[in-house]
Amino acid sequence: MRYSDDLIEEVRSRSNIVDVVSQYVKLQRKGSSYFGLCPFHNEKSPSFSVSPGKQMYYCFGCGAGGNVFTFLMQYENYSFQEAMKALAERAGIQLPEVEYSREARAEADRKALLLEINKKAARYYYCQLRSPAGAQGLHYLKGRGLSDEIMQKFGLGYADKFNNSLYQYLKKEGYSDELLKDSGLFIIDERRGVTDKFWNRVMYPIMDVNSRVIGFGGRVMGDAKPKYLNSPETKVFDKSRNLYGLNIARSSRKKNLIICEGYMDVISMHQAGFNNAVASLGTALTSQQASLLKRYTDDVLIIYDMDEAGVRAALRAIPMLRTAGLRTKVVDLRPHKDPDEFIQNQGREAFEDRLEKAENSFLFEIRILYEQYDMTDPQGKTDFFHKTAERLLRFEDEIERSSYIESISRIYGISQDMLQQQIRKLAMKGTVSRQMPEETRPQKPKKEKVSGSDTAQRLMLTWICNYPGILTELGSNLKTEHFCNPLYREVAEMLFQQIEAGEINPARIINHFEDGDIQNEVAGVFHAVLPLETPEERKKALRDVVCNMRELSIKTRIAELPLTDLAGLQKLMVEKKELEQLRAQFPEIDM
Ligand code: UTP
Ligand code: MN
Repeated sequence: MRYSDDLIEEVRSRSNIVDVVSQYVKLQRKGSSYFGLCPFHNEKSPSFSVSPGKQMYYCFGCGAGGNVFTFLMQYENYSFQEAMKALAERAGIQLPEVEYSREARAEADRKALLLEINKKAARYYYCQLRSPAGAQGLHYLKGRGLSDEIMQKFGLGYADKFNNSLYQYLKKEGYSDELLKDSGLFIIDERRGVTDKFWNRVMYPIMDVNSRVIGFGGRVMGDAKPKYLNSPETKVFDKSRNLYGLNIARSSRKKNLIICEGYMDVISMHQAGFNNAVASLGTALTSQQASLLKRYTDDVLIIYDMDEAGVRAALRAIPMLRTAGLRTKVVDLRPHKDPDEFIQNQGREAFEDRLEKAENSFLFEIRILYEQYDMTDPQGKTDFFHKTAERLLRFEDEIERSSYIESISRIYGISQDMLQQQIRKLAMKGTVSRQMPEETRPQKPKKEKVSGSDTAQRLMLTWICNYPGILTELGSNLKTEHFCNPLYREVAEMLFQQIEAGEINPARIINHFEDGDIQNEVAGVFHAVLPLETPEERKKALRDVVCNMRELSIKTRIAELPLTDLAGLQKLMVEKKELEQLRAQFPEIDM
């Protein structure tokens, strides 16, 4: 159901963001904004601001930001539709009856049928494992130390040696080929017809949080390759939004959730009593999975394989979990490879002990960094030291930062004073303070580092938003085409239009962007800090920013100009002249 822009805007404008956020976060007024502790990351001093004027929120610590819709989407994990419903209800606005189109209904029916097929397949495999045909599978799983009880709990099964048993069974149940094709359980070949995807494998049904079977993993009973086959993504199986074992782990009542890599690891841990373990589905952890975890816990333990790939995967997962607002620790299982192997060899107490000793994820990142440098070489040492200071600078909370400085200086024998000094120096250099490091913003469309020119364009948008009068005063000296960054140009176009129409409405601009990370970024644009005190400082900065933006825009266009386009070049040269004049004689603008 797609609501009209006007209706969306009506709901938004009748939902005061300060009131809505106040239901979740204690806010205090400071000047024209409200501040509170950010609900999207862990902090001790408030850097989360809500602006009633702009009807937006923004966290200067973690960069989360948006309007009243995105707030609910981030906080409650709502879809846009759900946020819309909640806010409409709150504001007493009647939404049009959800009118399922014929296609929507057909789609829903189809999903229900696919889930039904998955369930029947899971039952079929389950019975096979316990029948004479499944003796080999049962023998294999028992050999790996699994009890009947745990096999039952995870619904383990067996696909027999024939390559179309499941197909024949489901055909007898009356399903059409056309539907079976979409289940991902079969392979369709023009010559050989339809065959089962899985055969001669032990089967692990994959369930969503509500214990509905959405797909399967199947393991060979030996060393053949591929070791695991997995269902492909289907209408009901989204690998980036589900976690293996979460249907059980969600109600484990443990203080944290354990995230690991393998199906067998999850099962092994559950059997040993660690029923808070989950795994991703044969792919790297995604930010959606991190948000999913956050629905059920604030603390995550990462147990990835103790090899290079596992370390890399952990380094990728940590910032993602951090961005989702999760505290994270990393478990070391050396010399064993994975949790299953560890538990088989050393038992549950030793495993519990390793969980207790898990390493803080920040210290883990620093340790891995350390291993990359040659510490016997003065240059290596210096580089490590600088990189560490850079990472430490990212903590906005003084207490948190100093406790890390203390730990790091103790572990690596660096003097605390030197670290402090280096951090101060870096802090002075940075223009936009506490910019979140790039790598902790997962999923953002790849772009170059936030360059000086991007900063200038951001500042410009913030200014225009705060002092719309300058746009008129600048006149033709500033046009949307002077914004080189495509995202900022798009925002500028909308903003300029709003100003022309006589109403600035940043919160509305957000609705134009569908991607959550882009919404954050746009919200950030409207909340950039202007650390300029006096009108003189502001005037000078405005001149610099406008001129620099235009210079970059000219340079970019020159670079993109075909070599033969002399007329175009000439035009740009004229523009360059104009720019020189503008720099020398910038109009007096009050702000
Ligand atoms: P591992 O190779 O670590 O397997 O892959 P494992 O879980 O320890 O399995 P066992 O103990 O040998 O039985 C970790 C995860 O990566 C995915 C699966 O999700 C697996 O659980 N994987 C691995 C595949 O999807 N395909 C493969 O061929 C291998
Ligand atoms: Mn294993």
